[in-house]
Amino acid sequence: MSQTRSDNPFRPGSGILPPLLAGRERETATFEARVARTRAGQPQHSALLGEWAIGKTTLLMHWRRLRQQAGDAVVLSMAYPQSADDFLGGLVGAIDAELATGWPHHLDVELGLDIGVANARIRRPSRDPERELRAALRRLIEHQARQDRAVIVMLDDVDLLPMIGDVLLRLRASALELYAADLPLAFVVAASSGLFDAVRSAHEPLVRFFEPLSLGPLDPGDAIRAITEPLEETAVRFDAEVVAEIVDLAGGRPYYLQKLGYFAFDAAVNGRVTPAEFAVAFERAFASVSQEIFAARWAGMSPIDRQVVAAVARNTEPRPSGDIEAEAQRLGVQPGAARQSLRRLTARGHITRLGDGHRGRYAVQDRLFRRYLELQTCEP
Ligand SMILES: Nc1ncnc2c1ncn2[C@@H]1O[C@H](COP(=O)(O)OP(=O)(O)OP(=O)(O)O)[C@@H](O)[C@H]1O
Ligand SMILES: [Mg+2]
Repeated sequence: MSQTRSDNPFRPGSGILPPLLAGRERETATFEARVARTRAGQPQHSALLGEWAIGKTTLLMHWRRLRQQAGDAVVLSMAYPQSADDFLGGLVGAIDAELATGWPHHLDVELGLDIGVANARIRRPSRDPERELRAALRRLIEHQARQDRAVIVMLDDVDLLPMIGDVLLRLRASALELYAADLPLAFVVAASSGLFDAVRSAHEPLVRFFEPLSLGPLDPGDAIRAITEPLEETAVRFDAEVVAEIVDLAGGRPYYLQKLGYFAFDAAVNGRVTPAEFAVAFERAFASVSQEIFAARWAGMSPIDRQVVAAVARNTEPRPSGDIEAEAQRLGVQPGAARQSLRRLTARGHITRLGDGHRGRYAVQDRLFRRYLELQTCEP
């Protein structure tokens, strides 16, 4: 073996910049167009929506870099389960930290803003975080506007906030007040695809304010590039069948591409990965994803959800809900309960609903998860 772990170019993880950012040109063009309109006096805000590990944080970091290079001020803040006031208070700290770093920005200090967030967390709680937020935004925007530059505020994982509807409404209120002064500010919030289902009925205007921008799986061509281009910098090559197999198994999910690529690289013999090496690598990658992701997912499911998701996974072809309900009934699950479970599992992204109208068909499209479910339910 010639390769070492430190040569491994693949980066499976969360919020880790990949060796090559594959695809995402369309989404980036949309984002850039919205920033341009914001700068021209028509602010446009975005909600970047996509299932777990689809690449939301990575894209935010990419966009931050692009905008910083263009001279804009970008504040990137991560949400975690906390009160609305604490979250807004933390954001004020992150905005002040951005103002303190000055301009031009140090592009190599990717962590600067997170230090701002950390500082903000130990600040005294404020009695009116919304007013402080407006004041902080105004300071930063006015500083930027003097140089004809915009302010982009990115908020990742906002669906972790228990009061997400409330937070989004307060951000919107702050932005609307700043519009009056014609200041170039754009918000980008990132969350799972169900964000607006949670707030829609009560906060319908939010969907129009934070315009959805959906992030899906990578195209096969981009997925191939995500694997082959990083290898060019190394002494390792994957056989064409191995690349095809990785692309097929990943189904365009960038996290799986990184994970499978990482373990395949590690299994190379004399700088080469043939299907035989990949077979071993796949088992290791699968065990790693099962342990990190699937075990907790399975543990968090109710007995009914487990039976229904297993019933969906038993077929590779999408099946109508009626079929699944009938199968679940044989296992003792009432059709009404099975229907509700299908809805719940779809909302969480564990299964996919295809077709529209009330005649939906369901499948577990994630091949790694399907395999996990098969192993889970064929045990005695
Ligand atoms: N366009 C891409 N090309 C190649 N790899 C990517 C791409 N986007 C993301 N990745 C990789 O996929 C993994 C998941 O990305 P990321 O953490 O950005 O997803 P996410 O949607 O923010 O996930 P989470 O649900 O954890 O918030 C990371 O290892 C990242 O390096
Ligand atoms: Mg993320």
